[in-house]
Amino acid sequence: MDEDRAAAFTGKVLADTAAASTIVMAALGDRLGLFKELAASGPATSGELSSRLGLSERYVREWLAGMFAAGYLTYDSQQRYALPVEHAPTLASEPGPAFFGGVHQELIGAIQRYDQVAAAFRDGGGVSPAELHPDVWTGTSRFTAQWHQNMLVQQWLPLVPETTAKIRAGARIADVGCGTGQALIALARSFPEVTCVGYDVHAPVVEQARRAATEAGVADRLSYQVLDATAGLPESFDVITTFDVVHDAIDPLGLLRSIREALRPDGRYLCLDINCSDRAADNVGPIASLLYGFSILYCMTTSQARPDSARCDEWTWTTRSTTSMNWPGDPGVLRRSAPEALHGSGWVLRAPSHVPS
Ligand SMILES: C[S@@+](CC[C@H](N)C(=O)[O-])C[C@H]1O[C@@H](n2cnc3c(N)ncnc32)[C@H](O)[C@@H]1O
Repeated sequence: MDEDRAAAFTGKVLADTAAASTIVMAALGDRLGLFKELAASGPATSGELSSRLGLSERYVREWLAGMFAAGYLTYDSQQRYALPVEHAPTLASEPGPAFFGGVHQELIGAIQRYDQVAAAFRDGGGVSPAELHPDVWTGTSRFTAQWHQNMLVQQWLPLVPETTAKIRAGARIADVGCGTGQALIALARSFPEVTCVGYDVHAPVVEQARRAATEAGVADRLSYQVLDATAGLPESFDVITTFDVVHDAIDPLGLLRSIREALRPDGRYLCLDINCSDRAADNVGPIASLLYGFSILYCMTTSQARPDSARCDEWTWTTRSTTSMNWPGDPGVLRRSAPEALHGSGWVLRAPSHVPS
């Protein structure tokens, strides 16, 4: 055994373990408003911060010390802790493009079903979406809000001029796997001529989407329906979108077929999905390990819980069972299946995902 390599690996596991502990503290800071209060009101002692937020000083003192130890906060000679201005975009500026609070909430929510996931490793099956902790859905929504509010109209649509032209002209749009509906709200706000329907198989998020559309003042042009889109869409559309959905679907090819069948002639399909490598061996580094963790806690495992999972054809089964961020086990599934399922009438945008070196 190479002793140096072993020692280096022990160090790596220590760092990963510390990171897990740090993220538990960071998620508490997000939930309790500690980061946002430090960002808004500046440096504070534990007494000042706890009284501003109505929290226990003893807990806040421990949290501040822990966040300082992790390098998230600074500490001065007056015993005041501060959130450096450079750290605010990641921890306090919601829904900014660097904000991580939603991801932390989603992760902590998903871990609540740890026992069931472990049991599924032994006994098969999975964890149904209805059984997930509500923080999974809220965290996901807060995470993807940064795409829909900061990137969809501003950065992604300019990359797809034909789709954008249709939207501008007043397209009938469907967002499949709409979650809490943020994408369509962003489109409806920016393009007054569009009318839209969001579909999602999970009823509670559809309810949230309806409320959000009303609050955003666009409910007259937006509706949301509970629907398993694999079974087909009830009408046809000029533009259909999926944002972070296809890799979650129990039957991805079936979902793509439904989209194909519901596209009007010359309709456009806009798909955002995870830009993992075709080969599992290439999926290394922090984003890959993060996404595999989410897959085990959510993406793959919710699919495995479905009673009809056995209906999937072997090709899909292979991809799901080896998966999943979700499909590195079967090369190029999305790239291959999209043109196949869509007969070339749609096309796929794969958002670049940056893996820090
Ligand atoms: C990761 S979430 C993304 C939600 C949303 N697109 C967003 O950007 O926030 C994936 C969503 O796809 C939905 N979904 C998965 N399979 C579906 C299906 N067959 N039909 C409809 N919705 C589906 C899930 O319920 C979940 O809300």
